[in-house]
Amino acid sequence: MPKENDMKRWLWVITMVSLLLFSFSFVSGQPPKPPAKTPELLGVGKKLYDQNCASCHGPKGDGKGQIGAALKPPPNDFTKPFSQWPRGKGDVQKVFDVTTKGIPNTSMVKWDQLPEQERWALTYYVVEFATPKAPTKKK
Ligand code: HEC
Repeated sequence: MPKENDMKRWLWVITMVSLLLFSFSFVSGQPPKPPAKTPELLGVGKKLYDQNCASCHGPKGDGKGQIGAALKPPPNDFTKPFSQWPRGKGDVQKVFDVTTKGIPNTSMVKWDQLPEQERWALTYYVVEFATPKAPTKKK
């Protein structure tokens, strides 16, 4: 009965493929990995930054936002070389962590109400201000 065998083979293939896809989503959901830095994600980052961060950090990332200029401690200058950022120290994961947790006793609050994807978008966007261009390769 060749027909029935074909059916069985297909059923088997479909089962295996869905199992594979399932375990894939499981694994990728486990330790949170940074999403790839894409132009789309940077675009999201810019929008969020202009809405939430520019008032302090400045539209150009130099810390000269309307509020930022009066703050003590002031927001740091994102246009400095990435390796010299006081908290980020050249590590995008650290920038992500600061954005997530904020900095105690400063006006830099935590942004953990934003979805993780959006915090990565912001991370990649602020790091783009650094000169020379920061390496933002994934670890
Ligand atoms: C109310 C003002 C304010 C707003 C709004 C704000 N920040 Fe900050 N941020 C600060 C200040 C002040 C510091 C520096 C504190 C310090 O170094 O002690 C800081 C520091 C940081 C740092 C640390 C950089 C480093 O390496 O030293 C990052 C990253 C950062 N902010 C990201 C963001 C992002 C992203 C947003 C928007 C979602 C944001 N901030 C919104 C005030 C603000």
